[in-house]
Amino acid sequence: MSFFGIILPLILLIGIIVIFLMSGAMSSQEVATEPPRGSSHAGGKQSLYERLGGTAAIDAAVDIFYRRVLADAYVKPFFEGVDMEKQAAKQKAFLTMVFGGPHSYSGKDMREAHKHLVHEMGLNNSHFEHVLAHLRSTLAELGVDDGTIQEVIDIAESTRDDVLDR
Ligand code: HEM
Repeated sequence: MSFFGIILPLILLIGIIVIFLMSGAMSSQEVATEPPRGSSHAGGKQSLYERLGGTAAIDAAVDIFYRRVLADAYVKPFFEGVDMEKQAAKQKAFLTMVFGGPHSYSGKDMREAHKHLVHEMGLNNSHFEHVLAHLRSTLAELGVDDGTIQEVIDIAESTRDDVLDR
């Protein structure tokens, strides 16, 4: 048996197979540890933004939401003279941001945005409750499950003290 004729080519062949297998194992490891495309959370958990259905779903929800808000005589007066197209665009960007989607909100913070409504128009807890109820019923209408609705409500709830300037 010749060393150069059989054993050396055999060693080279085994070496190539080992390198090939190792590179395959490494690249599949890279794939496994990478977060899903478009996810803002490490570890593979989808953001609330993604679970709601992304931009299209949030756009649809905000449009229905403001239709409900403006149909409610108790809260409608606050939106008198407000450009609702711009308002909806700001709300879409704000919610997208707080739900873990792309950050494009450049509007005011919640205290600044609502301060004048509190001090000049008497915006209070019961108006806030109406708005939360419209948000809840909008998401239910769109078929969002109860657990996810509650997550959205919890985030909206977390803005209450700022919105009511207290
Ligand atoms: C769930 C909590 C709320 C959130 C997350 C929210 C979000 C927003 C955002 C993002 C803006 C735009 C800010 C800007 O102009 O840069 C805004 C403005 C406004 N919000 Fe809210 N809002 C909430 C509660 C309320 C409530 C309870 C009312 C009244 C019933 C209200 C009435 C308004 C009005 C009238 C404006 C426009 C103010 C203006 O342009 O002069 N909001 N809100």
